Amino acid sequence: MRPATPALPLPAAVSARLLAPADAAALAALRLAVLGGARDETAALGQQIAARDRNLMAGAFGPDDSLLAACAVHWADPHPAVAHKALLWGLVVVPEWRRLGLARAVTQLALEQAFARGARRVNLQVYLPNAAAVALYRSLGFEAWGTEPEALWAEGRFQDCLNMSLASPHAASR
Ligand SMILES: CC(C)(COP(=O)(O)OP(=O)(O)OC[C@H]1O[C@@H](n2cnc3c(N)ncnc32)[C@H](O)[C@@H]1OP(=O)(O)O)[C@@H](O)C(=O)NCCC(=O)NCCS
Repeated sequence: MRPATPALPLPAAVSARLLAPADAAALAALRLAVLGGARDETAALGQQIAARDRNLMAGAFGPDDSLLAACAVHWADPHPAVAHKALLWGLVVVPEWRRLGLARAVTQLALEQAFARGARRVNLQVYLPNAAAVALYRSLGFEAWGTEPEALWAEGRFQDCLNMSLASPHAASR
């Protein structure tokens, strides 16, 4: 595994922290602004943030305390056979604040917390093409292990999905 690219300092007056249930409405608004859609996810996201044994969500906040970026990690199954695996999802950055290191900052915070909580491996899926996300994940040390063809029908076309995985720096070798 190659070493992850270190995080650049965040822009002045931007700070990163884990989200609390009170941030659910801001997270729903951020996701709506970046991803579109019509569904209000506030209640569902609030429940997820509150379920701390299965989820963690990192966010970057701007000068006026507005949520600018977010990244989540989810433990899908507590069964001991698979509890070592977590899924990284929901990385979004508002368009006006891109290329400033916010995605790297929230993803690194989410990964640090996931590994500190004992995740041995963090997996993710990225729908292609998404050169920006793939470059970020590779720079953080994620390795691609396979592509699922036609994983999603969206925006009028089938999209392939790249599977990527990152081992915990604390995990002993197999
Ligand atoms: C992908 C996304 C999260 C990147 O956010 P960002 O804050 O601009 O990213 P950062 O500034 O932290 O950049 C981190 C790295 O990502 C890569 N990257 C980011 N934007 C890129 C772009 N437009 N083209 C190529 N690489 C890019 C680079 O490797 C960059 O490192 P560098 O600045 O040292 O070159 C953002 O564009 C976004 O929200 N896209 C829509 C949602 C999405 O695709 N989420 C990922 C789902 S898997």
